[in-house]
Amino acid sequence: MQEDLERILFDEQTILQRLDQIAAEISADYRKRELTVIAILNGSLIFMADLLRRIPLPLKLDCLSVASYHGGTQSTGDVVFKQIALPDVAGRHILILDDILDSGVTLAAIGEKLQAAQPLSVKICVLLRKKKIRQRQVEADYIGFDIGDEFVVGYGLDYMEHYRNLPCVGVLRKDLIASA
Ligand code: IMP
Ligand code: MG
Repeated sequence: MQEDLERILFDEQTILQRLDQIAAEISADYRKRELTVIAILNGSLIFMADLLRRIPLPLKLDCLSVASYHGGTQSTGDVVFKQIALPDVAGRHILILDDILDSGVTLAAIGEKLQAAQPLSVKICVLLRKKKIRQRQVEADYIGFDIGDEFVVGYGLDYMEHYRNLPCVGVLRKDLIASA
């Protein structure tokens, strides 16, 4: 799989070191409030597993499944919630975990849905943030790494459901991306 990468951006050790730092920040911020983590499937799965095991606080975990990409490399702008019932967020301190902040469409839609259910607070944590002009204005509170506006895979991020199990994050070779 690694031969499908144009270049590696972050190897496993670099990612895990950064997770130590973010986990310490989150642990300090939530030491007096019970945290409810909502992980956005499938992209945040590996990030979530490694991050949450570094947070030594009592917390609750829920998952939310959404789709916005439908297989390509550009967001379609539509966010489809794949489950009928939202996690129970009323009266809780919510931390949304996602793999990447790209166009902002997904996190804006999720943020609005969750806010309507009257949580006490909502913060956002992403492994990656792309530097670009977003379709929706969304700010993340905890960010693993800033990257350029390139299509990346690995460590949970996919291209057409492949590459999620790569231990590193890298830029996918352009010749492997089907031209739409
Ligand atoms: P949005 O464009 O910010 O709504 O991002 C929606 C979703 O698209 C993210 O949660 C990722 O699952 C996916 N995505 C965005 N950029 C990339 C990328 O570079 N590689 C793989 N998936 C991506
Ligand atoms: Mg995806």
